[in-house]
Amino acid sequence: MIKLSPSILAADPLRLYEAACTARDAGCDELHFDVMDGHFVPNLSFGPGLLKAMKKEFAFVFDVHLMLSDPLSYVKAFGDAGATLLTVHQEANDFEQCIKSIRAYGMKAGASLKPHTPAEALQPLLNQLDRVLLMTVEPGFGGQSLMPEVLVKAGQLREMGFTGSIEADGGITCDNAAMLARAGVDTLVMGTAFFKAKDPAAVAKKVHEL
Ligand code: DX5
Ligand code: ZN
Repeated sequence: MIKLSPSILAADPLRLYEAACTARDAGCDELHFDVMDGHFVPNLSFGPGLLKAMKKEFAFVFDVHLMLSDPLSYVKAFGDAGATLLTVHQEANDFEQCIKSIRAYGMKAGASLKPHTPAEALQPLLNQLDRVLLMTVEPGFGGQSLMPEVLVKAGQLREMGFTGSIEADGGITCDNAAMLARAGVDTLVMGTAFFKAKDPAAVAKKVHEL
């Protein structure tokens, strides 16, 4: 079954509790936190405090995507706040040390690739990853259009022997979700297409039926 991990970046910042209830009630197992530092990407979002508050109320797989230049400094903070799976960018500083630190802290480890970073960049660490997150837009902002050329990386990762989860993030809608599933993606991050939908539960149902 294809999983949906709604990105709260696209939710109404004044109604994040309701947004999380919507995701829960739509049967989403995961909730995606897009954490941005205004340096790795030209945008700022939220920190571990929001995650800590959500952890108290919800039983999601907390799927935390760090778009930070120096993620190593924040592994402990997001681990203590309750991240289930912590994903850092292969392009960030201290990438390999981050993966080791995430696993040592007891979390599942994910690696994210910007659109133009080849899948081969992860070869040395594939056996230490629980998830690879393929950015299907340039990271930083929701509401962009999906870059389909990225999807070839899913097949390349499998050819390289990767057996973990492959997630995609950016520009994903009900219209392109089937294409992602066919390409071998098992978890979809949806921000705009889920939280701005008239009927988010119907969006989730469509994805879960793929
Ligand atoms: C980009 C963000 C977005 C967000 C999803 O850095 O990571 O990809 O999660 O955005 P939508 O689904 O609105 O394109
Ligand atoms: Zn993300």
